Amino acid sequence: MILLSLSDFIGRFHPVIVHLPIGILLLGVLLHWLSRSTRFGNLQPAVRIVLLLGAISAVISCISGWLLGRGGDYDPDILNRHRWVGIGTAVIAILYYLNYAKKTGQKLPVTLPYILSVLLLLLITFTGHLGGTLTHGEGYLTQDLFQEEETKAIKKIIPDVQQAVAYSDIIQPVLHNKCYSCHSSSKQKGKLRLDTKEFIEKGGKDGKVLVPGKSDESEVYERLLLDPLEKKHMPPKGRPQLTEAETNIIHWWINAGASFDQKVKDLPQDEKIKPVLLALQSNNIAAPSKPDVPETPVAAASAELIGKLKKAGITVIPVSAESNYLSVSFISVPLKGDSAVKLLESLAPQIVWLKLSDTKITDAAMTSVAKLTNLTRLSLDHTNITDKGVAMLQPLTRLQYFNIVATEITGNGLTALKGLQELQTIYIYQSGILKADSSLLRKTFPKAIIDTGGYQLPILEGDTSIVKKKND
Ligand code: HEC
Repeated sequence: MILLSLSDFIGRFHPVIVHLPIGILLLGVLLHWLSRSTRFGNLQPAVRIVLLLGAISAVISCISGWLLGRGGDYDPDILNRHRWVGIGTAVIAILYYLNYAKKTGQKLPVTLPYILSVLLLLLITFTGHLGGTLTHGEGYLTQDLFQEEETKAIKKIIPDVQQAVAYSDIIQPVLHNKCYSCHSSSKQKGKLRLDTKEFIEKGGKDGKVLVPGKSDESEVYERLLLDPLEKKHMPPKGRPQLTEAETNIIHWWINAGASFDQKVKDLPQDEKIKPVLLALQSNNIAAPSKPDVPETPVAAASAELIGKLKKAGITVIPVSAESNYLSVSFISVPLKGDSAVKLLESLAPQIVWLKLSDTKITDAAMTSVAKLTNLTRLSLDHTNITDKGVAMLQPLTRLQYFNIVATEITGNGLTALKGLQELQTIYIYQSGILKADSSLLRKTFPKAIIDTGGYQLPILEGDTSIVKKKND
């Protein structure tokens, strides 16, 4: 144990220790070369000592490096190369010393030590470079010394892509995330800024980079298409690249006239770009337009009551750190049945989310659930609840989210809840609800999104009806 931590400790010093052989060996080579001239000929004994110290410190570096490398925190390929080139350096340093020591006194120049000295310089450089790559990452040499802090990636929430402004909601975030680190206020590589309309229109050192309507003449697009290994490819190799969708969208935007203020709906869209644009739409179009936690505060539930539930294995947590409203889940007690649900009644004012998924509950438990009139979310999926149980839930007028996946509940059964006008999302996949029920359900719950697993029943309102692909 102590031995292990001692060796770890020595390993830690590797990045410091390595500078010793580098410095000493470089000095040794310099003195060696100087000692060639008769003027410095008397340096020879000193060279011998310096080279000996260099070789010893190189060996020590190898040992400390080996100990550090065992930690496994490094890129194994580069580590391996660094390791063996490092050992090679130490071996050459030893040979160099031995050769030099043997040849001293002989008439100079002597070729072998010279060859070894040049080889040693190359190896030191290469080992150092690999070591730097290990600690700073690939390409650290070619990156700027004053590396910018990575621009923080942004993601716009787009509830309805057709209503989004093409430039500011869609194009700008891509440029922000993938180009601003080199083409904005902090840096203007190629004399180009891409962070405002004016700068984009102005272009870079080679002139205009955007030709509205002509993506094939626009450098901002053409450079994305170049071979990624090519120097002119943007973003440069090693930087976060654009996704295919992002590239397609830039192509579309430029060809549609590169407008900086028009909405998507006002721009031409062919069949190929439509799904790409739709995919930008935030997944949570079903996100409640109303908060699903009541705005009026509630008194805290008694710790004793909560403790009782917890003791029964039921998960009870506040919906947020500052809230007294509770989220209750039976997730860790799948065998619990109706009697456990009865315990919840005493917490009726506080419970807003309830997950009874995958439990042994029966319709009888719905008498208790119906008393939790603050519920906004209820999951009854993978249970034996039937239409009879659903009919009991009419008092839950605040319900927004209702999950009956994999139950026997039917379309007719669900219509018993037609009074629940806050319902926004109903998950009915693998339930007893048939495709033929869809128009009935649409009429009963005109405002809700009914998710069947593969698609969502179109929303009737307005002209934006789309059959939306399931998001997850
Ligand atoms: C890591 C830095 C970096 C990132 C990120 C980057 N670029 Fe560049 N860009 C450069 C450098 C360096 C040049 C100048 C060398 C050249 O012309 O290839 C350049 C030049 C350009 C030019 C040519 C300007 C001119 O007039 O010559 C265009 C156009 C360009 N970049 C577009 C982009 C776009 C679009 C993105 C984002 C998708 C991007 N760049 C991301 C570094 C970057």
